[in-house]
Amino acid sequence: MAETFDLIVIGSGPGGYVCAIRAAQLGMKVACVEKRATLGGTCLNIGCIPSKALLQSSEVFHQTVHGLKDHGIAVGEVSFDLARMQARKGEVVSANTKGIEFLFKKNKITWIKGAASFTGPNAIAVGGSAYSAKSIVIATGSESVPLKGVEVDETRIVTSTGALELDKVPGRLVVIGGGVIGLELGSVWARLGAKVTVVEFLERITPGLDAEISKAFQQALTKQGFTFKLGHKVTGATTGKDGVSLTIEPAKGGAAETLEADVVLLAIGRRAYTEGLNLAAAGVAADARGLVLTDAHYATNVPGIYAIGDVIAGPMLAHKAEEEGVALAELLAGQAGHVNYDAIPGVVYTWPEVASVGRTEEELKAAGVAYKVGKFPFMANGRARAMGEMEGFAKILSDQTTDRLLGAHIIGPDAGTLIAELVTAIEFGASAEDVARVCHAHPTLSEVVKEAALAADGRALHI
Ligand code: FAD
Ligand code: NAI
Repeated sequence: MAETFDLIVIGSGPGGYVCAIRAAQLGMKVACVEKRATLGGTCLNIGCIPSKALLQSSEVFHQTVHGLKDHGIAVGEVSFDLARMQARKGEVVSANTKGIEFLFKKNKITWIKGAASFTGPNAIAVGGSAYSAKSIVIATGSESVPLKGVEVDETRIVTSTGALELDKVPGRLVVIGGGVIGLELGSVWARLGAKVTVVEFLERITPGLDAEISKAFQQALTKQGFTFKLGHKVTGATTGKDGVSLTIEPAKGGAAETLEADVVLLAIGRRAYTEGLNLAAAGVAADARGLVLTDAHYATNVPGIYAIGDVIAGPMLAHKAEEEGVALAELLAGQAGHVNYDAIPGVVYTWPEVASVGRTEEELKAAGVAYKVGKFPFMANGRARAMGEMEGFAKILSDQTTDRLLGAHIIGPDAGTLIAELVTAIEFGASAEDVARVCHAHPTLSEVVKEAALAADGRALHI
């Protein structure tokens, strides 16, 4: 006899575990299946959290070596202990994953340990046991996209998972893909001494970001020692005892060249993960790239089966998955769960940080929307000057006629925190003038946001 639940969530990443908690809060009898030894999914185990732990440690080191002299602070020889740094990362991850275990107990959510596979429309098997539920949520996340001719061994040729586990700083790190993972993890190892070369297929890095921000971002990273090979593709990799020889060619054709690397990080995107789930047994439809197809209420083509997070369309971000988890649990409880996809921020946790929400200038142009631009540099901000962190700017895009905020993009110190105000403003349908008229504490970095909003009306005060 199958054990039955109101809701079974498959996968305990930020989409799945949050959906399970919200559903339990709303009175449902909930189980969550997770095949990893710990809860929290990609994000907590091999994604957001470990990468941010290493970014923080490497930033502290870099700041100690390069940032103190200016403040009149002298230190002796500074060194780092990579094993300790990695151990600290492990402690941070473990505290977070245990936190989810605690929340499951608190909310009386059953953790079914093992890999789920569908046996029918409302039934799954995990190990030898059968389970059924009124509703089943697929929240199985994503995996790294492979590249033909570049065999990942997670030692010499690594995905983000291996790049988070290196026990030695590579002398030469070649990153394939100038996206978020490549630039964040490239930053970690560059700060610790690696010579980082990024091979990017397109003529620019971070293709989803506003082009002006991407350009400034590339300049900032170049100053930090990154080398960029834009418009190039990798056509082969040979792993030897001491490293990897990569063959790269201009994307538009031309002579091939060889890049030697101690470690290669393959980071050309992620794809939906449904391996072993046996979607066919339930009849759940996916597209050619493996994304599970859903309607606006996260329902698949099979009644009672839903999907959220990285396994469905949209940005592959932890907070997007979380919002979908909450919205779906509320919809299942008969409430009006909803996600506003126009107000989902994206943050790259490099230094300077890069943060954005809403439309880019390129998207507005392509859509034929008439818009105004307001920009303000951190160089003209008193607090940024006091901090010695004057690189970057904020850019606000608002509708030419109504002044409604359409997009906001920041590169600079603590951009990830600063964007929250603009996400809120967009969520509330604010205009650039609304933001400009809000009193911002002085001296704070947030004044850059206010001034950029003023600049959208041509009346910035401090420039
Ligand atoms: P996942 O977190 O991938 O969780 C899916 C879970 O399902 C996994 O634990 C998996 O083991 C389990 N599973 C799969 N199949 C089965 C099965 N058949 N049975 C049982 N369990 C199964 N996003 C951000 O917003 N901010 C960041 O800073 C950030 N940093 C990142 C850094 C890296 C290196 C990476 C790789 C990703 C990062 N992301 C970040 C993206 C973020 O991790 C994902 O968007 C997020 O984890 C997606 O959540 P999810 O719940 O959809 O899936
Ligand atoms: P990405 O989509 O951010 O970047 C991939 C890059 O690789 C693009 O610039 C693309 O043009 C390039 N590319 C594709 N094929 C290529 C090829 N054959 N050769 C060279 N370049 C190629 O993907 P990435 O960095 O792997 O990250 C995956 C996802 O994980 C992100 O899109 C994001 O959703 C999530 N993530 C989010 C983080 C955050 O929010 N801070 C941090 C890390 C990951």
